[in-house]
Amino acid sequence: MALKRRNFLKGSAALGAATGMGLPHIWMKNTALAQASNGEIKVGVLFSLTGTTGIIEESLNKATILAIEEINDNGGVNGMRINPIVEDPASDPATFAEKARKLVLGDKCVSVFGSYTSASRKAVLPVFEGRDNLYFYPTLYEGRECSKNVIYTGAVPNQQQDEFIPWLVEKFGKKFYLIGSNYIYPKEENNYCKKLLEELGAEVVNEEYVPLGHSEFSSVINKIQSTQPNVIFSTVVGDSVVALHRQYRAAGLDPEKMPMASLTTSENEVAAMGGEAAAGHFTSAPYFMVHQSPENEKFVEAYRSRWGGDKVTHFVSEPSYFQVYMFKQAVEKLAASDITPPNIREAIKDVELIAPQGRVLLERENLHTWLWPKIAMAKSDGQFEVLQESPEWIKPLPYAAYPDQLCAEDGLQQV
Ligand code: ACM
Repeated sequence: MALKRRNFLKGSAALGAATGMGLPHIWMKNTALAQASNGEIKVGVLFSLTGTTGIIEESLNKATILAIEEINDNGGVNGMRINPIVEDPASDPATFAEKARKLVLGDKCVSVFGSYTSASRKAVLPVFEGRDNLYFYPTLYEGRECSKNVIYTGAVPNQQQDEFIPWLVEKFGKKFYLIGSNYIYPKEENNYCKKLLEELGAEVVNEEYVPLGHSEFSSVINKIQSTQPNVIFSTVVGDSVVALHRQYRAAGLDPEKMPMASLTTSENEVAAMGGEAAAGHFTSAPYFMVHQSPENEKFVEAYRSRWGGDKVTHFVSEPSYFQVYMFKQAVEKLAASDITPPNIREAIKDVELIAPQGRVLLERENLHTWLWPKIAMAKSDGQFEVLQESPEWIKPLPYAAYPDQLCAEDGLQQV
């Protein structure tokens, strides 16, 4: 596969920075024509290349750019090139919002691919909702959101926890220690975990949150040693994942007796901490790099050939990659003069494709994605061994923790 090595990591801050900034932005035919008339479709790429979640977001940028390059090298979208405008929001929600405004209002991108943390997604939401633009979000997250301006391609709690929590209870026992980073994602994810634990007659021995970027876990580990849980359920993110695993191992704790069970530890964090620190701990996710499929083989090979033979793919880079192909399928249905965010939103409903993890579908009801949950154990070679795989794809239920609410096509409903 011939892949061009363009330097997309350079920011394009000067590009159209002030054009239209701060003015109401209405998607009209002539705006759409401006998007496509010079034979290109402008999109934003908004992942942190620096800061505490740069460790993972940098790989989301790479997966997005890879997909865009592949599409462009294969004739583009109805003959039009996708032109990615890359920004680095530096793991800072306020900078995310500022860069999102620049991409939507200044650069007039027709959609933006971005974010790892829910804090950064929440920060950019008013930009996309206020301008009726589209944000493609590839990360597992807490649900409880029903925006018509976000295309959600990562897992929601029912897709990561419904099989994982009962499996952990059966295998290890009923005492759980919940440790997360201190922001909305871990707290909401833990709300769902506690609901499942209660149904299973299991108990939470402690629930604790540490600041984003936290790297000193000795007091957490002391509390783990004194409470002796059966499972440490971790939703810490970014650099903290590395610190927690290393300090757990240094304290002499044993994953066979008291494993960490995570929704956020991927091959990427394992590569950063070293396989020895991760070995024996568990993650639930819809994708692992070892997944056997022709589509995954192609993805891994292309990713490594583009970005380096030692690079890993993981459960957030995979949706970062396939969501660009979902965007392509949607835009392909539109005439050049109709390429607007609202038209892309309509066209992407029910889009289906074979991703590296298997067949995925963009659910028209709630703009989330049907995915294939798996449970895996980290190994010292840096890869995971998949122990259990859902026999069918699982519908996204972003309000699973809130059964009196439902995200429907015309918005959030009380049921
Ligand atoms: C996350 O903040 N959604 C990992």
